Amino acid sequence: MATPVLDKPAQDATASHLITITLRVRRFLPEVSDEVTWEDFALEIDPKERVLDALHKVKWEMDGTLTFRRSCAHGICGSDAMRINGRNRLACKTLIKDINPEKPITVEPIKGLAVLKDLVVDMEPFFQAYRDVMPFLVTKGNEPTRERLQSAEDRERFDDTTKCILCAACTSSCPVFWNDGQYFGPAAIVNAHRFIFDSRDEAGEQRLEILNDKDGVWRCRTTFNCTDACPRGIEVTKAIAEVKKALITRRY
Ligand code: SF4
Ligand code: FES
Repeated sequence: MATPVLDKPAQDATASHLITITLRVRRFLPEVSDEVTWEDFALEIDPKERVLDALHKVKWEMDGTLTFRRSCAHGICGSDAMRINGRNRLACKTLIKDINPEKPITVEPIKGLAVLKDLVVDMEPFFQAYRDVMPFLVTKGNEPTRERLQSAEDRERFDDTTKCILCAACTSSCPVFWNDGQYFGPAAIVNAHRFIFDSRDEAGEQRLEILNDKDGVWRCRTTFNCTDACPRGIEVTKAIAEVKKALITRRY
């Protein structure tokens, strides 16, 4: 069967949507050099596409060595957090038209974690802090034969913090975390909050004691960077404040 060919006017109409942008990417290729460089890529793209699409275009059509993480491409897996024009965002949720495409668009790795290659950082310290707060339901006694009941009001208390996708945009936008990677960071506290305020959980005290540490919640300076950075719209600073309050009052 003959391959259908678009007629000329239709092709032109499609092309007319394209604009030329410059993607300015911070490069680090340890197998080539220890030096960090910036590299510009000029490409044509529909402004309604995302920064992730622009990165794919570079990788697939211009330079296959460009390295970055991504999986779902729809804001769910949390793997493509990066600094775009100096702000932490998910590349798959950032439209080209929304970030001033007339100027070079800078793309660099999130801060505070060691860069392994190009836009890929070592997430292990981030996930270690997450594991340290015991991000799972803890209950004692026999397992019930039916589901563990919870009122709508009790469920509402931790609804916001269930939305976390562990992208690290919050933790890697926190100046305390940049200066001292020992701080648990906002994401770990958000995930502790999710269980501390769950009426079915019985390890709230334990989690609060973990966060009462010198590297715990008291390191937070309430700069709100985390709340601004969160692509899920979680009120991160509020969640941290609620954990601080629970530590003082022991009521949660
Ligand atoms: S709280 Fe928001 S910014 Fe932080 S890891 Fe979770 S989803 Fe990402
Ligand atoms: S690729 Fe999954 S959140 Fe962006």
